[in-house]
Amino acid sequence: MSSLHDISWADYSALSIEGKVPLLARPDGMPFHTLFAQQFGRKELDRICDLATKIRFIAKSRDGMDFLQGLLSHKRAMIYFTQPSSRTFLSFLSACQILGIKTGEVRDAAVSSEFKGESREDSIRTFSSYFDLIIMRTQEKGLAERMAHALSQSDRPVPIINAGSGKDQHPTQALLDIYTLNRSFEKKGGLANRTVMYVGDLARGRTVRSLSNLLTNYEGMRHVFVAPPQLQIGDDIVAMLKARGNEVVLSDDMRAWLPRVDAVYMTRIQDEWDATKGESARIDTSRFKIGAAEMALMGANAILMHPLPRRDEISTDCDSDPRAKYWRQMRNGMWVRTALIAATFDCDDMILAWRSRQ
Ligand code: CP
Repeated sequence: MSSLHDISWADYSALSIEGKVPLLARPDGMPFHTLFAQQFGRKELDRICDLATKIRFIAKSRDGMDFLQGLLSHKRAMIYFTQPSSRTFLSFLSACQILGIKTGEVRDAAVSSEFKGESREDSIRTFSSYFDLIIMRTQEKGLAERMAHALSQSDRPVPIINAGSGKDQHPTQALLDIYTLNRSFEKKGGLANRTVMYVGDLARGRTVRSLSNLLTNYEGMRHVFVAPPQLQIGDDIVAMLKARGNEVVLSDDMRAWLPRVDAVYMTRIQDEWDATKGESARIDTSRFKIGAAEMALMGANAILMHPLPRRDEISTDCDSDPRAKYWRQMRNGMWVRTALIAATFDCDDMILAWRSRQ
């Protein structure tokens, strides 16, 4: 068995994620379809980070941008986002523009033929007739995976990139988070043996699930999950981290942990997933917010991250503190997504080999 083309949906869906990963990869191990954070081991993460850094450098010059924009000018991408987004949508759009890819978009199923009763599956099959890449964000867990399988069985097996699916996975957010952590610690001893504290709605935030998974690729990581009991991280993530030899702490005392961590990863309350109206508003989240007083408790070399958007969990007076990395983190998303698309279309070696003519 070598690819998704060779396996039925019934057999494929019975596999563990680890069993699925090789079926989603190109021969060099980089993803063809990007669906899960688990598709990235240390080798792939280093490759994406190196590529992102090189692209960031190349894009500074006119001849560099001309080179990048010629790489995939023969490709077209559909950006299909039926869940709200600012950063992920715009950074993928910018990534396509950097690589010369033409784009189409659907951001509201009501303006597509889904409104007339067409299934999501048929809609996405339709996109594959006109485009060479589908980047999709959906409310529906597993849709990107089902479509990757369906397209791999079709005569237009175009790659799919999961830009956020249900409460479960946000693999490209985790890639940009890893890149941000690597950049922040590269001159301070690297990313291994660090303590990362995740704060907020850990039960329903898909970014924390994907990031904690990717951090198991680095030696000696300690994960501190800080949340009200109702919003604490799932048992599946705790079990996965422990099985990989990582230290895990569950706490509801953010202030006690602030002086002891290398990175703080704040998240907002995801009340769009409330089962009943006002459910989240009844939870006391007042102790899970960061302002100047909490920043004063953090170490001088510690960093503050947030996938954004934020509400009031980080006050704006933190924004000018050099330890606040969330704006840089957001911009890193554009470089990392450019790197991922370039790798998906096998342009990585050309980019890494580029030398300025000036
Ligand atoms: N971090 C993130 O996914 O942001 P958007 O919802 O704005 O895309």
